[in-house]
Amino acid sequence: MFKTTSNYSPIMNTYSRLPLSIQKGKGTLVWSDDNEEYLDFTSGIATCNLGHCPSEVEKALTEQLSQIWHTSNLYHVPKQEELACLLTEKTCFDQVFFCNSGAEANEAAIKLVRAFANKNGDKQANMVTFQQSFHGRTLATVAATGQEKIKSGFEPMPEGFIHLPYNDFDSLETIKDMAPTAVMLELLQGEGGVVPANPDWVKRLSDICKENGILLIVDEVQTGMGRTGSLFLYEQYHLEPDIMTLAKGLGSGFPIGAMLAKEEVALAFFPGMHGSTFGGNPLASTAGMTTLNVICEPEFLNKTGEQSRLLLSELERFQEEFSFIKEIRGIGMLLGLEISGNAVDLVKLALEEKLLILTAGPNVVRLLPPLTVSEEEVNSFVQKFTKVLQKFREVHHG
Ligand SMILES: Cc1ncc(COP(=O)(O)O)c(C=O)c1O
Repeated sequence: MFKTTSNYSPIMNTYSRLPLSIQKGKGTLVWSDDNEEYLDFTSGIATCNLGHCPSEVEKALTEQLSQIWHTSNLYHVPKQEELACLLTEKTCFDQVFFCNSGAEANEAAIKLVRAFANKNGDKQANMVTFQQSFHGRTLATVAATGQEKIKSGFEPMPEGFIHLPYNDFDSLETIKDMAPTAVMLELLQGEGGVVPANPDWVKRLSDICKENGILLIVDEVQTGMGRTGSLFLYEQYHLEPDIMTLAKGLGSGFPIGAMLAKEEVALAFFPGMHGSTFGGNPLASTAGMTTLNVICEPEFLNKTGEQSRLLLSELERFQEEFSFIKEIRGIGMLLGLEISGNAVDLVKLALEEKLLILTAGPNVVRLLPPLTVSEEEVNSFVQKFTKVLQKFREVHHG
C-alpha cells in the first residue's frame, strides 16, 4: 500500500479513493497488494470491457512493443490508419481523429463543430447539451457538461453551451429557434445516474436536427465498444449521427480516444488546426484494433447478452426482496440501481465482501462488469451482493 503521512501525499488531492491497492488482474478478478481476490464489476469504469489483461490484446501489444512505440503524428502511422479503416467500416462515419481520452475526444468534437460553423460563416456555433450529462474534465467539456458540481470553482466557463432537460419533449421544440450548430448527448447517461434516453424523444430530437441542419453528436465514451449489447448504442436507437466520440473501452485500458465524423463535417479540419502528440500512436492503435476485432467476433456480443439478461433478472429479484431498491435502469452491461440511501455506503459494504462496484451520483449504484463475465462470475456476484444488501438493510433500514 502506498504510504502517506496524515497530511501529505505527493498525489494531488483530486480523488476520494477507497482503501484498496490493486496489483494484478485477470478477466473479472483483481488481486490487492496483500493478495486478496476481488470480483471486479467496475471494469476500470467501463474501460476493461474484455476483462483485465485480455490475452489477445496482451499478445498484440507485446508484439508491437518490440516494433515501435511512438513516432508522433509528423509521419504516417500505419496502425492508426488500420484502426481508422476498421472503425469506419463498422460505423456510419467516414473519418477519425485520434486522441487519448474521452474528454479529448469531446473537445475535438466541439472544435470540429466550431470549425464547421466558422467555415459556413456562422460565428456563434452554439451547442445544445443536456442536464445531468457528463462530457469530461477539460474546460470546454466541463462547460458542455450539464452538472453544476463539475463546473463549480472553475468559472468563468467557456461560452456557447445551452443545457436542456434530458428526456423532456417540450424543450426539444425550442431547439429550432435557438439554431445551434450541434446537439450533443449521451444516449444513456452514465455518470448522471444511469439514465437511458427515451427512444421517442431521441427520434424527435434526431428529426429536429435533420429538418434544421443541426449536427447530431453522440458521446459514446461510456456506452461504446459493446458495453450496451451492440457495438455502439446509436445502432439500437436507429440513428445516423454526424459525430461520435469514443475512449474508455476502445483500448482495453491502454489510453486512446477517438472522434469519428461524417466526411462533410470532418472536412472542416485542415492540417495544423488540431492535433495530439500521442493520439493514435502505434501502441494505442494496436490496443484499439485488437479490442475492436475481439468484440466484433461472431457470438461475442450474443454471449454478453446472455449474461446481462441473467444479471438483470437477478437484480429484479433483489428489487422484490429489498424495498430500498427503488428502480433498476440501464442497457446491456451498464446497469444502475437507484436506492433510497447513500450509494457510497453500499459500495463500501461491497468492498468488505471483496466485490468492486461503483456509484453514479449520490443514490445510484452502478454495475459495469466486463463483457466477458461468465455465468459463474454472475452467480458469485449474486452471492456477494446478497450479503451486501442484507448488511445495508440492517445498517440503514433496520
Ligand atoms: C459519457 C462520457 N464522456 C466523457 C467522459 C470523459 O472521459 P475521460 O475520463 O476519458 O476524459 C466520460 C468519463 O466518464 C464519460 O462517461
